[in-house]
Amino acid sequence: MPLAVVLILLVVGSLLFHVLSPWTFTELASNWGMVDFTVDITLYVTGFVFVAVNLFMAYCVIKFRYRKGARATYEPENKKLESWLTGLTAIGVAAMLTPGLFVWAKFVDVPEEAHVVEAVGQQWHWSFRMPGEDGKLGEVDAERITNDNPFGMDPDDPNGQDDVLIHSAEIHVPIDKPVKFLLRSKDVLHDFAVAQFRVKMDLVPGMNTFLWLTPTVEGRFEILCEELCGVGHHTMRGAVIVDSADDYDIWLANQSTYSELNAKSVGNADIGAAQYAVCATCHGQQGEGIAAMNAPKLAGQSAWYLKRQIMNYKRGLRGTDPSDTFGQQMIGMVASLADEQAVDNVVAHIRTFPDEPVEATIAGDVNAGAGEYRVCAYCHGKDGAGVQALNAPRLAGMSDWYLERQLQNFRNNVRGAHPQDYYGFQMGLMGQSIYDEQAMTDLVAYINTL
Ligand code: CUA
Repeated sequence: MPLAVVLILLVVGSLLFHVLSPWTFTELASNWGMVDFTVDITLYVTGFVFVAVNLFMAYCVIKFRYRKGARATYEPENKKLESWLTGLTAIGVAAMLTPGLFVWAKFVDVPEEAHVVEAVGQQWHWSFRMPGEDGKLGEVDAERITNDNPFGMDPDDPNGQDDVLIHSAEIHVPIDKPVKFLLRSKDVLHDFAVAQFRVKMDLVPGMNTFLWLTPTVEGRFEILCEELCGVGHHTMRGAVIVDSADDYDIWLANQSTYSELNAKSVGNADIGAAQYAVCATCHGQQGEGIAAMNAPKLAGQSAWYLKRQIMNYKRGLRGTDPSDTFGQQMIGMVASLADEQAVDNVVAHIRTFPDEPVEATIAGDVNAGAGEYRVCAYCHGKDGAGVQALNAPRLAGMSDWYLERQLQNFRNNVRGAHPQDYYGFQMGLMGQSIYDEQAMTDLVAYINTL
Protein backbone atom coordinates (compact mmCIF):
# COMPACT_ATOMS: atom_id res chain seq x y z
CA MET A 1 0.00 0.00 0.00
CA PRO A 2 2.71 2.60 0.82
CA LEU A 3 4.26 1.90 -2.60
CA ALA A 4 0.96 2.70 -4.34
CA VAL A 5 0.72 5.97 -2.41
CA VAL A 6 4.28 6.88 -3.44
CA LEU A 7 3.47 6.20 -7.11
CA ILE A 8 0.32 8.33 -6.99
CA LEU A 9 2.16 11.15 -5.19
CA LEU A 10 4.90 10.96 -7.83
CA VAL A 11 2.34 11.50 -10.59
CA VAL A 12 0.48 14.29 -8.79
CA GLY A 13 3.77 15.96 -7.76
CA SER A 14 5.17 15.84 -11.30
CA LEU A 15 2.00 17.35 -12.78
CA LEU A 16 1.91 20.09 -10.14
CA PHE A 17 5.59 20.80 -10.71
CA HIS A 18 5.01 21.10 -14.43
CA VAL A 19 2.10 23.51 -14.02
CA LEU A 20 3.50 25.62 -11.17
CA SER A 21 7.22 25.61 -11.96
CA PRO A 22 8.74 28.99 -12.84
CA TRP A 23 11.27 27.25 -15.11
CA THR A 24 9.72 27.47 -18.51
CA PHE A 25 11.17 28.13 -21.96
CA THR A 26 12.67 31.54 -22.53
CA GLU A 27 10.58 33.76 -24.77
CA LEU A 28 10.84 32.74 -28.43
CA ALA A 29 12.69 35.36 -30.50
CA SER A 30 12.87 33.72 -33.92
CA ASN A 31 10.78 32.03 -36.59
CA TRP A 32 11.37 28.60 -35.05
CA GLY A 33 8.01 28.16 -33.31
CA MET A 34 8.02 24.73 -34.99
CA VAL A 35 10.75 23.61 -32.63
CA ASP A 36 8.66 24.55 -29.60
CA PHE A 37 5.68 22.74 -31.11
CA THR A 38 7.79 19.60 -31.57
CA VAL A 39 9.09 19.77 -28.03
CA ASP A 40 5.52 20.21 -26.76
CA ILE A 41 4.29 17.13 -28.63
CA THR A 42 7.13 15.07 -27.19
CA LEU A 43 6.31 16.36 -23.71
CA TYR A 44 2.60 15.51 -24.08
CA VAL A 45 3.26 12.00 -25.46
CA THR A 46 5.88 11.09 -22.86
CA GLY A 47 3.88 12.88 -20.14
CA PHE A 48 0.76 10.90 -20.96
CA VAL A 49 2.70 7.62 -20.92
CA PHE A 50 4.39 8.56 -17.63
CA VAL A 51 1.06 9.31 -15.95
CA ALA A 52 -0.71 6.27 -17.41
CA VAL A 53 2.03 3.76 -16.58
CA ASN A 54 2.53 4.98 -13.00
CA LEU A 55 -1.21 5.12 -12.24
CA PHE A 56 -1.64 1.64 -13.74
CA MET A 57 1.15 0.35 -11.52
CA ALA A 58 -0.46 1.93 -8.47
CA TYR A 59 -3.80 0.38 -9.45
CA CYS A 60 -2.20 -3.07 -9.81
CA VAL A 61 -0.37 -2.77 -6.51
CA ILE A 62 -3.68 -2.05 -4.75
CA LYS A 63 -5.92 -4.40 -6.70
CA PHE A 64 -3.62 -7.42 -6.68
CA ARG A 65 -2.12 -6.96 -3.22
CA TYR A 66 -1.48 -9.98 -1.06
CA ARG A 67 -4.56 -11.75 0.20
CA LYS A 68 -4.51 -14.97 2.17
CA GLY A 69 -5.32 -17.92 -0.03
CA ALA A 70 -5.50 -15.93 -3.27
CA ARG A 71 -3.61 -17.47 -6.21
CA ALA A 72 -2.20 -15.70 -9.25
CA THR A 73 -3.37 -16.86 -12.67
CA TYR A 74 -0.66 -17.37 -15.27
CA GLU A 75 -1.35 -15.82 -18.68
CA PRO A 76 1.82 -15.66 -20.83
CA GLU A 77 0.14 -14.57 -24.12
CA ASN A 78 -2.58 -12.08 -24.84
CA LYS A 79 -2.72 -11.33 -28.58
CA LYS A 80 -5.38 -8.67 -28.27
CA LEU A 81 -3.58 -6.70 -25.55
CA GLU A 82 -0.26 -6.97 -27.39
CA SER A 83 -1.63 -5.59 -30.64
CA TRP A 84 -3.22 -2.69 -28.75
CA LEU A 85 0.03 -1.87 -26.96
CA THR A 86 2.13 -2.21 -30.12
CA GLY A 87 -0.29 -0.02 -32.06
CA LEU A 88 -0.44 2.70 -29.43
CA THR A 89 3.34 2.70 -28.97
CA ALA A 90 3.83 3.00 -32.73
CA ILE A 91 1.45 5.97 -32.89
CA GLY A 92 3.19 7.64 -29.94
CA VAL A 93 6.69 7.17 -31.39
CA ALA A 94 5.56 8.37 -34.82
CA ALA A 95 3.93 11.43 -33.24
CA MET A 96 7.24 12.29 -31.57
CA LEU A 97 9.47 11.70 -34.60
CA THR A 98 7.41 12.90 -37.57
CA PRO A 99 7.30 16.63 -36.70
CA GLY A 100 11.09 16.56 -36.40
CA LEU A 101 11.35 15.51 -40.06
CA PHE A 102 9.34 18.56 -41.11
CA VAL A 103 11.46 20.83 -38.91
CA TRP A 104 14.65 19.38 -40.35
CA ALA A 105 13.41 19.79 -43.93
CA LYS A 106 12.91 23.49 -43.20
CA PHE A 107 16.17 23.74 -41.28
CA VAL A 108 18.26 22.62 -44.27
CA ASP A 109 16.22 24.75 -46.70
CA VAL A 110 17.85 28.16 -46.16
CA PRO A 111 15.93 31.07 -47.72
CA GLU A 112 17.71 32.47 -50.80
CA GLU A 113 17.71 36.00 -49.44
CA ALA A 114 19.30 35.07 -46.09
CA HIS A 115 22.33 37.22 -45.35
CA VAL A 116 25.42 35.36 -44.34
CA VAL A 117 27.38 35.67 -41.11
CA GLU A 118 30.31 33.41 -40.44
CA ALA A 119 30.79 32.62 -36.76
CA VAL A 120 34.30 31.46 -35.93
CA GLY A 121 34.84 29.56 -32.69
CA GLN A 122 38.03 28.81 -30.86
CA GLN A 123 38.92 28.08 -27.26
CA TRP A 124 37.14 30.24 -25.82
CA HIS A 125 36.19 32.98 -28.07
CA TRP A 126 33.76 33.95 -30.84
CA SER A 127 34.48 36.21 -33.76
CA PHE A 128 32.52 36.94 -36.92
CA ARG A 129 32.94 37.65 -40.61
CA MET A 130 30.44 38.88 -43.17
CA PRO A 131 30.74 39.18 -46.94
CA GLY A 132 30.98 42.76 -48.18
CA GLU A 133 29.02 44.32 -51.02
CA ASP A 134 30.04 41.59 -53.47
CA GLY A 135 28.10 39.12 -51.31
CA LYS A 136 31.03 36.69 -51.40
CA LEU A 137 33.23 35.61 -48.53
CA GLY A 138 36.93 35.50 -49.30
CA GLU A 139 38.92 32.27 -49.16
CA VAL A 140 40.26 31.29 -45.77
CA ASP A 141 42.75 28.64 -44.82
CA ALA A 142 43.62 27.30 -41.38
CA GLU A 143 47.30 27.29 -42.40
CA ARG A 144 47.27 31.06 -42.79
CA ILE A 145 45.93 31.71 -39.29
CA THR A 146 48.44 33.76 -37.32
CA ASN A 147 48.32 36.33 -34.58
CA ASP A 148 47.93 39.07 -37.18
CA ASN A 149 45.56 37.11 -39.39
CA PRO A 150 43.18 35.39 -36.97
CA PHE A 151 40.64 34.57 -39.70
CA GLY A 152 43.24 32.98 -41.97
CA MET A 153 42.31 35.40 -44.80
CA ASP A 154 43.98 35.12 -48.21
CA PRO A 155 45.54 38.58 -48.80
CA ASP A 156 45.41 38.09 -52.60
CA ASP A 157 41.77 37.03 -52.88
CA PRO A 158 39.72 39.92 -54.33
CA ASN A 159 36.52 38.48 -52.80
CA GLY A 160 37.93 38.83 -49.31
CA GLN A 161 38.98 42.49 -49.47
CA ASP A 162 35.53 43.82 -48.56
CA ASP A 163 34.75 41.12 -45.98
CA VAL A 164 33.64 42.70 -42.73
CA LEU A 165 35.75 41.33 -39.87
CA ILE A 166 34.41 41.53 -36.34
CA HIS A 167 36.98 40.68 -33.72
CA SER A 168 34.48 41.02 -30.89
CA ALA A 169 32.14 38.35 -29.54
CA GLU A 170 29.16 40.57 -30.28
CA ILE A 171 27.35 40.41 -33.62
CA HIS A 172 24.43 42.51 -34.82
CA VAL A 173 21.67 41.26 -37.14
CA PRO A 174 18.63 43.11 -38.51
CA ILE A 175 15.17 42.13 -37.30
CA ASP A 176 12.75 40.14 -39.51
CA LYS A 177 15.44 39.26 -42.06
CA PRO A 178 16.62 35.68 -42.39
CA VAL A 179 20.24 35.17 -41.45
CA LYS A 180 22.42 32.16 -42.15
CA PHE A 181 25.22 31.49 -39.70
CA LEU A 182 28.11 29.61 -41.25
CA LEU A 183 30.02 27.90 -38.47
CA ARG A 184 33.76 27.28 -38.42
CA SER A 185 36.00 26.03 -35.63
CA LYS A 186 39.72 26.64 -35.41
CA ASP A 187 40.45 23.95 -32.86
CA VAL A 188 37.96 21.62 -31.18
CA LEU A 189 34.21 20.95 -31.18
CA HIS A 190 32.12 23.93 -30.12
CA ASP A 191 28.40 24.58 -30.39
CA PHE A 192 26.67 27.79 -31.40
CA ALA A 193 23.47 28.18 -29.40
CA VAL A 194 21.14 31.05 -28.56
CA ALA A 195 18.33 29.79 -26.34
CA GLN A 196 15.75 32.32 -27.58
CA PHE A 197 16.35 31.35 -31.21
CA ARG A 198 15.71 27.62 -30.56
CA VAL A 199 18.31 26.51 -33.08
CA LYS A 200 21.83 25.33 -32.34
CA MET A 201 24.59 23.58 -34.24
CA ASP A 202 28.00 22.10 -33.58
CA LEU A 203 31.17 23.64 -34.97
CA VAL A 204 33.34 20.82 -36.25
CA PRO A 205 37.03 21.37 -37.05
CA GLY A 206 37.68 20.80 -40.75
CA MET A 207 34.02 21.16 -41.67
CA ASN A 208 31.59 23.99 -42.40
CA THR A 209 28.24 23.67 -40.67
CA PHE A 210 25.38 26.14 -40.62
CA LEU A 211 22.04 27.14 -39.16
CA TRP A 212 19.55 29.81 -40.11
CA LEU A 213 16.83 31.81 -38.46
CA THR A 214 14.75 34.95 -38.77
CA PRO A 215 15.01 37.02 -35.58
CA THR A 216 11.61 38.39 -34.57
CA VAL A 217 12.35 40.30 -31.35
CA GLU A 218 14.76 43.20 -30.92
CA GLY A 219 17.25 42.93 -28.11
CA ARG A 220 20.42 41.32 -26.88
CA PHE A 221 20.59 37.52 -26.81
CA GLU A 222 23.43 35.59 -25.28
CA ILE A 223 25.41 33.10 -27.34
CA LEU A 224 26.50 30.08 -25.36
CA CYS A 225 28.92 27.43 -26.48
CA GLU A 226 27.00 24.24 -25.70
CA GLU A 227 29.73 21.72 -26.38
CA LEU A 228 32.22 20.98 -23.62
CA CYS A 229 35.39 22.38 -25.19
CA GLY A 230 37.93 22.53 -22.37
CA VAL A 231 38.41 24.15 -18.98
CA GLY A 232 37.25 27.57 -20.20
CA HIS A 233 34.11 26.23 -21.91
CA HIS A 234 31.79 28.04 -19.51
CA THR A 235 33.43 31.36 -20.39
CA MET A 236 32.86 30.99 -24.14
CA ARG A 237 30.03 33.47 -24.54
CA GLY A 238 28.98 36.22 -26.87
CA ALA A 239 25.85 38.02 -27.96
CA VAL A 240 23.60 38.45 -30.95
CA ILE A 241 22.07 41.92 -30.96
CA VAL A 242 18.86 42.10 -32.98
CA ASP A 243 18.52 45.66 -34.31
CA SER A 244 15.91 47.61 -36.20
CA ALA A 245 16.89 48.07 -39.86
CA ASP A 246 18.13 51.62 -39.18
CA ASP A 247 20.18 50.72 -36.12
CA TYR A 248 21.69 47.82 -38.01
CA ASP A 249 22.79 50.07 -40.88
CA ILE A 250 24.45 52.45 -38.41
CA TRP A 251 26.26 49.60 -36.74
CA LEU A 252 27.36 48.06 -40.04
CA ALA A 253 28.70 51.39 -41.29
CA ASN A 254 31.01 51.49 -38.25
CA GLN A 255 32.58 48.09 -38.90
CA SER A 256 35.85 47.69 -40.76
CA THR A 257 36.54 45.55 -43.80
CA TYR A 258 39.61 43.40 -44.25
CA SER A 259 41.29 45.93 -46.52
CA GLU A 260 40.40 48.83 -44.21
CA LEU A 261 41.90 46.97 -41.27
CA ASN A 262 45.07 46.36 -43.28
CA ALA A 263 45.31 50.01 -44.25
CA LYS A 264 44.45 51.42 -40.85
CA SER A 265 46.81 54.24 -39.99
CA VAL A 266 48.86 53.79 -36.90
CA GLY A 267 49.18 56.61 -34.44
CA ASN A 268 51.74 59.38 -34.60
CA ALA A 269 54.23 58.91 -31.77
CA ASP A 270 55.46 62.51 -31.88
CA ILE A 271 52.00 63.97 -31.40
CA GLY A 272 51.38 61.29 -28.78
CA ALA A 273 54.44 62.44 -26.81
CA ALA A 274 52.71 65.68 -25.84
CA GLN A 275 49.61 63.83 -24.75
CA TYR A 276 51.66 61.33 -22.78
CA ALA A 277 52.94 64.09 -20.48
CA VAL A 278 49.76 63.67 -18.42
CA CYS A 279 50.26 59.90 -18.14
CA ALA A 280 53.96 60.28 -17.22
CA THR A 281 53.18 61.67 -13.77
CA CYS A 282 51.91 58.27 -12.63
CA HIS A 283 53.17 55.74 -15.18
CA GLY A 284 56.70 57.20 -15.40
CA GLN A 285 58.58 59.04 -18.18
CA GLN A 286 59.37 55.78 -19.99
CA GLY A 287 56.15 53.98 -19.06
CA GLU A 288 58.09 51.92 -16.55
CA GLY A 289 55.26 52.03 -14.00
CA ILE A 290 55.35 53.48 -10.48
CA ALA A 291 54.02 51.16 -7.80
CA ALA A 292 53.74 53.98 -5.25
CA MET A 293 51.35 55.74 -7.63
CA ASN A 294 49.47 52.49 -8.30
CA ALA A 295 50.30 52.95 -11.98
CA PRO A 296 51.42 49.79 -13.81
CA LYS A 297 54.16 49.43 -16.38
CA LEU A 298 53.00 50.29 -19.90
CA ALA A 299 56.24 49.86 -21.85
CA GLY A 300 56.25 46.63 -23.82
CA GLN A 301 52.50 46.09 -23.59
CA SER A 302 50.85 45.45 -26.97
CA ALA A 303 49.30 48.42 -28.75
CA TRP A 304 45.93 46.73 -29.32
CA TYR A 305 45.57 46.00 -25.60
CA LEU A 306 46.58 49.49 -24.46
CA LYS A 307 44.13 50.97 -26.93
CA ARG A 308 41.29 48.69 -25.90
CA GLN A 309 41.74 49.49 -22.21
CA ILE A 310 41.86 53.24 -22.84
CA MET A 311 38.73 52.92 -24.99
CA ASN A 312 37.06 50.80 -22.27
CA TYR A 313 37.73 53.58 -19.77
CA LYS A 314 36.38 56.14 -22.22
CA ARG A 315 33.25 54.11 -22.98
CA GLY A 316 32.46 53.34 -19.36
CA LEU A 317 33.25 49.62 -19.66
CA ARG A 318 36.01 49.83 -17.10
CA GLY A 319 36.71 51.78 -13.93
CA THR A 320 33.08 52.50 -13.10
CA ASP A 321 32.89 50.28 -10.03
CA PRO A 322 32.77 52.48 -6.90
CA SER A 323 35.48 50.40 -5.20
CA ASP A 324 37.85 50.70 -8.18
CA THR A 325 39.54 53.90 -7.01
CA PHE A 326 42.44 53.71 -9.47
CA GLY A 327 40.13 52.84 -12.34
CA GLN A 328 38.02 55.88 -11.56
CA GLN A 329 41.15 57.97 -11.61
CA MET A 330 41.93 56.64 -15.09
CA ILE A 331 38.49 57.66 -16.38
CA GLY A 332 39.34 61.23 -15.46
CA MET A 333 42.75 61.00 -17.14
CA VAL A 334 41.67 59.44 -20.45
CA ALA A 335 39.09 62.19 -20.88
CA SER A 336 42.02 64.34 -22.07
CA LEU A 337 42.34 62.07 -25.13
CA ALA A 338 39.75 63.63 -27.41
CA ASP A 339 39.18 60.85 -29.92
CA GLU A 340 40.38 57.51 -31.26
CA GLN A 341 43.18 59.19 -33.20
CA ALA A 342 44.48 60.75 -29.98
CA VAL A 343 44.41 57.32 -28.36
CA ASP A 344 46.33 55.84 -31.31
CA ASN A 345 48.92 58.61 -31.00
CA VAL A 346 49.54 58.14 -27.31
CA VAL A 347 49.72 54.37 -27.73
CA ALA A 348 52.23 54.84 -30.58
CA HIS A 349 54.32 56.94 -28.21
CA ILE A 350 54.15 54.31 -25.45
CA ARG A 351 55.36 51.74 -28.01
CA THR A 352 58.61 53.71 -28.43
CA PHE A 353 59.62 53.13 -24.78
CA PRO A 354 62.36 50.59 -24.07
CA ASP A 355 60.99 47.41 -22.50
CA GLU A 356 63.10 47.29 -19.33
CA PRO A 357 62.65 44.33 -16.98
CA VAL A 358 60.69 45.07 -13.80
CA GLU A 359 61.65 44.06 -10.31
CA ALA A 360 59.60 41.24 -8.83
CA THR A 361 57.65 42.29 -5.74
CA ILE A 362 55.68 39.09 -5.22
CA ALA A 363 57.16 35.79 -4.09
CA GLY A 364 55.33 32.51 -3.90
CA ASP A 365 55.48 28.80 -4.70
CA VAL A 366 56.57 28.92 -8.33
CA ASN A 367 55.90 25.21 -8.91
CA ALA A 368 52.34 25.47 -7.68
CA GLY A 369 51.96 28.62 -9.75
CA ALA A 370 53.12 26.79 -12.86
CA GLY A 371 50.23 24.37 -12.42
CA GLU A 372 47.75 27.22 -12.07
CA TYR A 373 49.17 28.92 -15.14
CA ARG A 374 48.43 26.00 -17.45
CA VAL A 375 44.86 27.28 -17.84
CA CYS A 376 46.00 30.87 -18.46
CA ALA A 377 48.45 29.66 -21.12
CA TYR A 378 45.59 28.72 -23.47
CA CYS A 379 44.88 32.40 -24.09
CA HIS A 380 47.91 34.33 -22.82
CA GLY A 381 50.44 31.95 -24.35
CA LYS A 382 52.88 29.56 -22.67
CA ASP A 383 55.43 32.36 -22.49
CA GLY A 384 52.87 34.91 -21.25
CA ALA A 385 53.60 37.10 -24.27
CA GLY A 386 49.89 37.56 -25.03
CA VAL A 387 47.84 36.41 -28.04
CA GLN A 388 46.00 39.10 -29.94
CA ALA A 389 43.65 36.72 -31.74
CA LEU A 390 42.34 35.66 -28.32
CA ASN A 391 42.31 39.22 -26.98
CA ALA A 392 44.67 38.09 -24.23
CA PRO A 393 47.33 40.65 -23.26
CA ARG A 394 50.95 40.16 -22.36
CA LEU A 395 51.54 39.17 -18.73
CA ALA A 396 55.25 38.31 -18.64
CA GLY A 397 57.57 41.11 -17.58
CA MET A 398 54.74 43.42 -16.52
CA SER A 399 54.12 44.83 -13.01
CA ASP A 400 53.37 41.82 -10.82
CA TRP A 401 51.54 43.79 -8.09
CA TYR A 402 49.24 45.10 -10.83
CA LEU A 403 48.54 41.59 -12.15
CA GLU A 404 47.61 40.48 -8.65
CA ARG A 405 45.34 43.46 -8.08
CA GLN A 406 43.59 42.97 -11.40
CA LEU A 407 43.06 39.28 -10.66
CA GLN A 408 41.44 40.35 -7.40
CA ASN A 409 39.32 42.87 -9.26
CA PHE A 410 38.20 40.26 -11.76
CA ARG A 411 37.38 37.79 -8.99
CA ASN A 412 35.35 40.38 -7.10
CA ASN A 413 33.55 41.68 -10.20
CA VAL A 414 35.19 45.07 -9.71
CA ARG A 415 36.51 44.71 -13.23
CA GLY A 416 34.82 42.86 -16.12
CA ALA A 417 31.28 43.20 -14.79
CA HIS A 418 30.08 45.39 -17.67
CA PRO A 419 27.95 43.26 -20.06
CA GLN A 420 29.87 44.52 -23.09
CA ASP A 421 33.28 43.84 -21.60
CA TYR A 422 33.41 40.25 -22.90
CA TYR A 423 37.05 39.60 -22.23
CA GLY A 424 36.78 41.14 -18.78
CA PHE A 425 33.75 39.00 -18.07
CA GLN A 426 35.65 35.95 -19.25
CA MET A 427 38.54 36.85 -16.97
CA GLY A 428 36.08 37.22 -14.10
CA LEU A 429 34.98 33.63 -14.59
CA MET A 430 38.56 32.43 -14.98
CA GLY A 431 39.66 34.41 -11.92
CA GLN A 432 36.97 32.77 -9.84
CA SER A 433 38.34 29.37 -10.80
CA ILE A 434 41.55 30.17 -8.89
CA TYR A 435 41.31 28.44 -5.58
CA ASP A 436 42.40 31.09 -3.07
CA GLU A 437 44.67 34.05 -2.35
CA GLN A 438 47.69 31.80 -1.97
CA ALA A 439 47.10 30.21 -5.38
CA MET A 440 46.88 33.68 -6.87
CA THR A 441 50.18 34.74 -5.31
CA ASP A 442 51.82 31.54 -6.57
CA LEU A 443 50.42 32.18 -10.02
CA VAL A 444 51.81 35.71 -10.19
CA ALA A 445 55.12 34.48 -8.79
CA TYR A 446 55.28 31.98 -11.64
CA ILE A 447 54.44 34.66 -14.23
CA ASN A 448 57.45 36.56 -12.87
CA THR A 449 59.68 33.71 -14.04
CA LEU A 450 58.45 33.82 -17.65
CU1 CUA B 1 33.44 26.19 -26.97
CU2 CUA B 1 32.39 25.05 -25.19
